[in-house]
Amino acid sequence: MTAFAQPAARAATHRTGIALIPGPSQLTSLPGRFTFDEHTAVRAAPGGARDAAALLRTLLAPATGLPLPAADDGRIVFVLDPALGGLGQEGYGLTVGSDAVLLRAGRREGLLRGVQTIRQLLPPGALSHEPVRGTEWSLPCVQITDVPRFAWRGAMLDVARRFRPVSFLRRFTDLLALHKLNVLHLHLTDDQGWRMPVAAFPRLTGVGGEPHGGAYTRQELSGLVAYAAARGVTVVPEIEMPGHVRAALAAYPELGNDPSRRLTVWDRWGVCENVLGVHDQVLDFCHTVLGEVMDTFPSPHVHIGGEECPTTEWQRSAAARRRAVAEGLAGPEALHGWFMDRVGGFLTENGRRPLGWTESGSDLPTAFTAVPWRAAEHGLTAARRGQDVIMAPYRSTYLDYPQSERPDEPPGQPGGVVSLRDVYDLEPAPAGWEPEAAARVLGTQAQLWSEYVPTGAHAEYLAFPRLCALAETAWSAHRDWPGFLRRLAHHRTRLDALRVPGRPPHDPSHHSPLHPPPGEESGR
Ligand code: ACM
Repeated sequence: MTAFAQPAARAATHRTGIALIPGPSQLTSLPGRFTFDEHTAVRAAPGGARDAAALLRTLLAPATGLPLPAADDGRIVFVLDPALGGLGQEGYGLTVGSDAVLLRAGRREGLLRGVQTIRQLLPPGALSHEPVRGTEWSLPCVQITDVPRFAWRGAMLDVARRFRPVSFLRRFTDLLALHKLNVLHLHLTDDQGWRMPVAAFPRLTGVGGEPHGGAYTRQELSGLVAYAAARGVTVVPEIEMPGHVRAALAAYPELGNDPSRRLTVWDRWGVCENVLGVHDQVLDFCHTVLGEVMDTFPSPHVHIGGEECPTTEWQRSAAARRRAVAEGLAGPEALHGWFMDRVGGFLTENGRRPLGWTESGSDLPTAFTAVPWRAAEHGLTAARRGQDVIMAPYRSTYLDYPQSERPDEPPGQPGGVVSLRDVYDLEPAPAGWEPEAAARVLGTQAQLWSEYVPTGAHAEYLAFPRLCALAETAWSAHRDWPGFLRRLAHHRTRLDALRVPGRPPHDPSHHSPLHPPPGEESGR
């Protein structure tokens, strides 16, 4: 794709103000404009093309009021043609002429991505949630062919440390889709909260949902999954184990290593010593929970965390030591790999692919897709072992770190800054890696941990514009920092239309009041 005319895309940005984020593979600017009116209709092939037409209608209605009815002689034509296989799972071709618009793809997802391009080609007001009057709704004539570089382009929200209502998750899903990001990873459980309802274990949310705000209902989560699917976004659930489970242990002490000990949901940040026991009842618990998770989330991937798991409790526990001996392990420390293997195997048997955070590249069973969060090199280690990899090194993708050193920047995760440029410069599959290893990289995702992010508005402030950079890193084969900055300046007007808060915050009242971070810092 680097052979495509990216220079043309750059030139077009200058001449016509076409400023797409992420930048498309190929763009040729043409003279003229296509103008919408109340009679403009859409002709869509059955199936996925109708889904995409419905999405365009839904997205444009609030600001433009355009009805965009379905009609056989519609001037906006959506074609789903499996013969367009060269466009892959998500690529699309878009031709805007002064009389007609033609959007073509081989798959439903490609059309959904093309809808977002149409949205970005319209005046920024088209993205508003309120009616906008006095604007001519028109598109510049253009020829675009656009194919993503990576299949996995995502963002993680930590809704365990701070509960966020489903209304926020839906809005965030729309923001992902606008940037052609296709994965919403929900970190649903941790030491400080459990937000996923499990019918067989009601105290998980009854006790674990108390601090910082609440829990979802099954209906809310299923509704979110459907809402995201209509936008081509997959919701990937994460249930942490065998560490980061203190909220579950507070609800069900028998899952721990000392059932006589009563624990509270944790009220500090950092790495907690209390972890799951390794007796059969715990494995049954994990299988039951994950069974309900799989019923709610059709995602092919299911994340089970796995990181920051101290083994001190297992070393102290006679039962855990016996289990290690019975399983032929070198010692209680090896119970972590054993545990991940058992639970990962359960997911595999059920047709899902297990995902886990890796801290060395070699700490997860090879069936796991590895998510290196500490160092990018751990991704290479995992890839060389034959594992799929999703790059998430914290220095490039952790958006809970402040985005600048400005004195008015709200406090974030201590220990550094993750700048827009840091995100943009992440190379998910570095050229220095052997091709077989690079081919293992599915993509990349941003992380929005929430210890230091009290509100949804603050989360959006941290996400933008850095998520725009991540979207381009993940989608565009050709990257161009100066061109990105130029396009971003225009893109900001779209984010303004969507009322997405963004830096620089000129108004001091813009800063969300932050709660003082409880307890110790994260172990990062
Ligand atoms: C992590 O930062 N605990 C993956």
